[in-house]
Amino acid sequence: MKSTDSHQNLPDDSSLQLLADGRMRHLLTLQGLDGSLLTELLDEAEAFLSPIGSAPERRVSLAGRTVANLFFEPSTRTRASFDLASRRLGADVLNLDVNTSSRKKGESILDTIFTLQAMQVDIMVVRDAGAGVPAYIARNVNDHVSILNAGEADVSHPTQGLLDLLTIRRHKGDFEDLTVAIVGDILHSRVARSAAQGLTALGVGELRLISPPALAADQNEVPGAIISDNLDDGLKGADVVMALRIQRERIGNLDGIPGIDEYFARYGISHERMKIAAPNAIVMHPGPMNRGIEIESTLADSTASVITEQVTNGVAVRMAILERVAKTMDSR
Ligand code: CP
Repeated sequence: MKSTDSHQNLPDDSSLQLLADGRMRHLLTLQGLDGSLLTELLDEAEAFLSPIGSAPERRVSLAGRTVANLFFEPSTRTRASFDLASRRLGADVLNLDVNTSSRKKGESILDTIFTLQAMQVDIMVVRDAGAGVPAYIARNVNDHVSILNAGEADVSHPTQGLLDLLTIRRHKGDFEDLTVAIVGDILHSRVARSAAQGLTALGVGELRLISPPALAADQNEVPGAIISDNLDDGLKGADVVMALRIQRERIGNLDGIPGIDEYFARYGISHERMKIAAPNAIVMHPGPMNRGIEIESTLADSTASVITEQVTNGVAVRMAILERVAKTMDSR
């Protein structure tokens, strides 16, 4: 994808997250994780799923461990699901209120991290608007501490990528024969980047990235993807359609981006538009949604939509990742 400023000169984080023997220490990015590891993670996550309305799966694999949620950007789904996932595995959970934390008084992020580390926090779940922050923290924490990236600028959102992969796999099976269309603000989307990395590693049949030219992907970032500004071409025969929000908080200059009505007319995913996609195509959205802009409201609530399943799968994926890094801690 096209590099925004935040991507420039970022070191490769992929070697930081796995120990030499392949055990997972941190989760910073899906870049560099191979298809077999991703498949194992999806299998582990799937084992945590139980029907809505039944008692959720519980384990004690994090008993005695402490997880801190450090969200320096807003979140509903990711924060709540890491919280639930940690508790369902028996961990103590600290949700730092960033609005009343000492970072507001000028404390550096590393001093905040070192303070929590001194309180025997084992796993830190970090969301930040700064590119490179999760890896920067990972390079500086004690050996026993794990860092999980919960959304990093426009760079990476690896647990979102995993939950998207799990949702697709549960509906469509193997990735090799699938056509996946991701539609919207690709340029500023950490969700699109992580989904593209995961889908590529799992050998997706065809990946299409559709957006207005001003929000387009860079071919060099996703060499195998088809990049287009034509929604009708992009949706033709697609098995999976993922709509993305325009990331207004990351866009300084809105020149070249259509207004709301024009955007919905040209790039909005609607019942009518979905007639171009494959029969039984599924509609995804990472949330938060702007109904009536990138997705027709009634489509988001229709039987084609798997948006609430994505949320359910997010808890399972986060349980799988928490259990993985806790196992690594226990075996060190
Ligand atoms: N998809 C996602 O990251 O949602 P939140 O911002 O609510 O966590």
